[in-house]
Amino acid sequence: MDASGISTPNAVMVFDTTLRDGEQSPGAALSVDEKLEVGRALEEMGVDIIEAGFPISSPGDLRAVQQISRKIRNCVICGLTRANHEDIDAAAEALEEAARPRIHTGLGVSDLHIRHKLRTTREKALEWGVDAVKYAKKYVEDVQYYTEDAGRADQTYLYRVLEAVIVAGATVVNIPDTTGYTTPDEFGALIKGIVENVPNIHKATISVHCHNDLGMATANTLAGVLNGARQVEVTVNGIGERAGNSSLEEIVMALKTRRDLFRLDTSIDTHRIYPVSRLVSQLTGMAVQPNKAIVGANAFAHSSGIHQDGVLKERTTYEIINPHDVGAPKSAIILSARSGRHGLRHRLAELGYSLQDGQFEKVYQRFIKVADKKKAVDTRDLEAIVADEAQVFFEETYQLEHIQVTCGSHSIPTATVRIRGPDGHVSCDADHGTGPVDAICRAINRVVGERNELIEFSIQAVTEGIDAVGRVTIRIQADEPVNGGERRVFSGHGADTDIVVASAKAYLFALNRLIAARREAAT
Ligand code: KIV
Ligand code: ZN
Repeated sequence: MDASGISTPNAVMVFDTTLRDGEQSPGAALSVDEKLEVGRALEEMGVDIIEAGFPISSPGDLRAVQQISRKIRNCVICGLTRANHEDIDAAAEALEEAARPRIHTGLGVSDLHIRHKLRTTREKALEWGVDAVKYAKKYVEDVQYYTEDAGRADQTYLYRVLEAVIVAGATVVNIPDTTGYTTPDEFGALIKGIVENVPNIHKATISVHCHNDLGMATANTLAGVLNGARQVEVTVNGIGERAGNSSLEEIVMALKTRRDLFRLDTSIDTHRIYPVSRLVSQLTGMAVQPNKAIVGANAFAHSSGIHQDGVLKERTTYEIINPHDVGAPKSAIILSARSGRHGLRHRLAELGYSLQDGQFEKVYQRFIKVADKKKAVDTRDLEAIVADEAQVFFEETYQLEHIQVTCGSHSIPTATVRIRGPDGHVSCDADHGTGPVDAICRAINRVVGERNELIEFSIQAVTEGIDAVGRVTIRIQADEPVNGGERRVFSGHGADTDIVVASAKAYLFALNRLIAARREAAT
């Protein structure tokens, strides 16, 4: 839209109804101040028309439309009404201070609505509609007329209604698929039929308002645009009655990403899409599903090794939108069991680790084991793994192959270990103790035979959640001085999703250090 509010040839007007149809979502009610905050965010994002509420519905809605009319000066502000004078009076009052007010009135056009909801005839309903437009015109120049349930209406009747309300002064005619019933082909054909059969249609803008009951709201809206609609009615995050409305972010980004096909522009600053989505989600309390197009947490997250490899080589191999363009955080490489070496190396490099091939391989093998147990391996898990596997700057004399512990309130804590020794010989032994950790240390001592005293044991959850990696730190003190002087203390750490395994690793790590120090002292 240009400065005077006139639509330019290649423009599609964005009519945002987050504050009206969106707010009709169960549990999404907003206070007047919250509505104003959303309204400001919509204005900043560049929407053309804000449907600010349904003024007759409650004093709060009326006040919200009033406040928004007063404070938001760069958008057309619209208020919804039914096709009666009382509703229109309330809307006019609410919109009094708007820089560019619009009244949105209308009536059902399907026989279902005319017969069962309005309990009238087609002819009478048509007269009401025309009367409502004429009445609204007394207050404002800009009157939008909705033909509720147009998706299920008799098309010849719909054409007659549209022609009549345009004659009465409607500037915009809204074609809602109120129940989300149509398919894209059908909805596109409906708009095409209107363009071809309503003689005065060129005097009004065609608007499309699609609901998502069959998951086709976005596709239907775009089909409408391809067939001549030049206003799209949308909500942030697609919130709205039942399954919601066509979502702003999907429509805007479809038009932008596939401009080659649509050759149409909107006035939306797409960089504001993600922050506004967060704001609406927080204020309405309606979470955005992780796989939601454009604004979901996973919209720019790559989990499979093949995809990670592609994205790291060239982002566009698996991304059709740059997350920066919608103000979303940059693409995330999610490390999971499906991640490959390339993804892991990249993440480690980002964290500042540059590992030798041998070290990297150990980290990778360990990472795969952790990833098999956890859904996603995060930064702190990785740090624990690297500390555990890669920062071993001494020769590991003994390696843990297997550990098994039994314990419980009525059993004697017992540990069985299998350990590979310096000559490759594998030994198996078991012992019991006062608790599982004591039993582990005793069982390991039976194989290793290095006398020491355990002086500290601590355990820490590296990551939150039930599947967290636990990191165990153990400090032992050698029974005899290693190279004269004091009895030295050696620390060891181990990380694993199983704290029993982490404890065994930590203890053996400390023992290996002690043995390495003794060996060094002897040479
Ligand atoms: O879905 C619908 O038909 C509506 C109208 C009131 C425009 O929301
Ligand atoms: Zn609706």
